[in-house]
Amino acid sequence: LRRLSPVRYDESRSTWDVFRYEDVHRILKDPAAFSSVRMLSDKDRETILTMDPPRHSQMRALVNKAFTPKIISGMDSHIRSITMDLLDAVADKGAMDLVHDLAVPLPVIVIAELLGVPPKDRDLFKEWSDILVKGPEENTDEAFYQVMAEKGQAIEQLNDYFARIVDERRVQPRDDLISLLLSAEIEGEKLTDKEILGFSTLLLAAGNETTTNLITNAVRLLTEKPELQQRLRNDPELTASFIEEVLRFYPPIQAIGRVATADVEIGGKQVKKGDQVISWVASANRDETKFDDPETFLIDRKPNAHLSFGFGIHFCLGAPLARLESQIALRAMIERMGDIRLAPNAALEPIQSPFVFGVKQYPV
Ligand code: HEM
Repeated sequence: LRRLSPVRYDESRSTWDVFRYEDVHRILKDPAAFSSVRMLSDKDRETILTMDPPRHSQMRALVNKAFTPKIISGMDSHIRSITMDLLDAVADKGAMDLVHDLAVPLPVIVIAELLGVPPKDRDLFKEWSDILVKGPEENTDEAFYQVMAEKGQAIEQLNDYFARIVDERRVQPRDDLISLLLSAEIEGEKLTDKEILGFSTLLLAAGNETTTNLITNAVRLLTEKPELQQRLRNDPELTASFIEEVLRFYPPIQAIGRVATADVEIGGKQVKKGDQVISWVASANRDETKFDDPETFLIDRKPNAHLSFGFGIHFCLGAPLARLESQIALRAMIERMGDIRLAPNAALEPIQSPFVFGVKQYPV
C-alpha cells in the first residue's frame, strides 16, 4: 500500500488512508489543516485529545504540570515495587499469563494512584477501565451497539465515582492529580467539574490498554527473538532503546485520525474539507525512506523517530510514564526469570480493533 497507493480513498468507510512517513508526519504537524475535533463530537465529552488550539494549548499546558519528567521519574521506585509485588504473586508457579498478571494491573494501579483513587477501589476501577477500551466481540451492528451501551454506562458510573472524589478533594486537597486540577486556573478561570471528570476518564482510556499492549508486545518480541533476552541480560542499559524499537515495530496504536479543515493536497491526492483522514503510524514506522532496514528489529536502533506516540501538539502526554513502566517491567522480568518462552500450544487471540495491536492473553 505504501508503494502502490500511499494515499487512498476508501469509499466503504468514506475515509482517506495515509501510509507514508512523510505524509503522516506532515498531517500530525499541522493541526490548523488537520483538526482533532471529531465530526460527531459530543461537547460534554470533549477532552484534550479531541480539541484544537487555542483551547487545546491552554488545557495541555495545565495538565503538562502533572506529567513533568521530574514527577514521572520520581515514581520510579514505587512503580518498581508494584511490579515486584505483581511478579511475587506468580513467582511459585513458574508460569503466568503476562497480560492478566502484569501488563493489565501495572498501568491501572499506577493511574489509579496518580488520580488519587484509594487502593480498596482498584478492582472496581479496573472493571470500568476495561469496559472503556473494549471492542465488539463480533463484527455485527448488534455487538457494536451493545459495547457502546456498556461503555456509556461505565462512563456514567466512573463520572459519579470521580464526582465524589472531586467533592472530597475540594474540601480536603491531597497530593494527587485531581487536587492539582481543582486548584488550577486557565486565564483566571477554574476548570469545571465536567472538564476534570473528562480528563480523568481520558487518562484511563488513553493510558491503560496502550501500556498493557506495549508491555505485552515487548515480551512477545523477547519470545519471538530469544537472542534479545541474552542481550538485555548482558546489558540492561539497552532496555530503553529496546522499548523504543518495540514501539516502532509493534505500535500499540496503529493509526491516528484527523479531519481536513479545508481542501488540501496530500501525496498528489485532493482531500476535501470535512474529509476524515487516517494516518497509519504502523506503516510510517516501517517506511524504508525513513528507516534503514525497517523490517529488521534492531535493539539499539539510532536514531529511532517512530511515530507511535504521535507527533506535534497532541504528542502523547503519558509517553514518559509508559516508557518508565514498560522499562521497569521488562527489566524486572529479565532479572527475575530464566528463559522466557511462550507456553506450548498457546493460541494468540488478537484484540478486535483495527487501531490496536495486541493480544488478549500471553501465557509464558
Ligand atoms: C495522546 C499513544 C500511553 C495519555 C496519544 C497519542 C498517541 C498515544 C498516538 C496521540 C493521539 C493524537 O495525536 O490524536 C500512546 C501509547 C501509549 C500511551 C502507544 C503506551 C505505550 C499513555 C499514558 C497516558 C496517556 C500512560 C496517561 C497516563 C495520553 C493523553 C493524550 C495522548 C492525555 C492526549 C494528548 C493531547 O491531545 O494533547 N497517546 N499513549 N497515554 N495520550 Fe497516550
